[in-house]
Amino acid sequence: MNCILVGPPGAGKGTQAKKIVEKFGIVHLSTGDMFREAKKSEEGISKLLASGQLVPDETVVNMIKKRLEKDDVKKGFLLDGFPRTLNQAEELDKMLKTKNIKIDAVFFVDVHFDEAVKRISGRRVCSCGASYHVDFIPPKVEGKCDACNGDLIQRNDDKENVVKDRLDVYEKQTRPLIEYYKKTGLLVNIDGLKNESEVFEEIKKYIKAK
Ligand code: AP5
Repeated sequence: MNCILVGPPGAGKGTQAKKIVEKFGIVHLSTGDMFREAKKSEEGISKLLASGQLVPDETVVNMIKKRLEKDDVKKGFLLDGFPRTLNQAEELDKMLKTKNIKIDAVFFVDVHFDEAVKRISGRRVCSCGASYHVDFIPPKVEGKCDACNGDLIQRNDDKENVVKDRLDVYEKQTRPLIEYYKKTGLLVNIDGLKNESEVFEEIKKYIKAK
């Protein structure tokens, strides 16, 4: 099974992605995670992420192209945060066509602007990859990761002054993808406003029915 998760910043894509890959044994390909890892060594990427702007299409497309060469994606993959522009979607189509790979579903997890802001501003993350929300999904001990007891921090791009820019970028550059995937018949609308488990149930039900 090969799927795509699309939706505004803070919709819960990363949260659901972790559950999906664990349940269905597929590979999680998160371009955001890849860039957060890369930014430790690349200043240009670091600046783009901190300002909420997109990394150039060519860079993202080449990164995904390389990643799809690896053997592990044969067991199935979940793209999280890619594609994010129409150009990226078209490049992905070309890439998959040459490899004879098909996408089974594009889950569009949607939440409105105010909810996205609330979720992003309350998110706290650990260097081990775990993610929490100070009100909705709090850790057992404030400021500490349940999994490894590491310190929880706020992502640079979750700061209030950047959040609005990220949502603007989404509206202008990513939202047109919804229409694009609707036309392919692959789009599955998911109500991201439900709680974490309910959202997962909806996605799980769809995958199992497939
Ligand atoms: P990326 O990491 O992809 O960020 P994003 O798309 O902005 O998404 P987020 O990680 O903010 O949100 P999410 O939907 O994963 O929500 P989460 O599950 O964490 O990208 C970061 C940057 O990298 C981009 O700005 C860009 O610069 C660059 N980039 C990445 N991909 C790119 C591409 N293809 N092209 C160009 N540039 C690219 O949940 C959010 C919070 O809500 C958490 O606190 C969580 O605990 C909580 N929560 C989750 N679900 C629920 C729920 N159902 N109810 C209540 N709270 C919930």
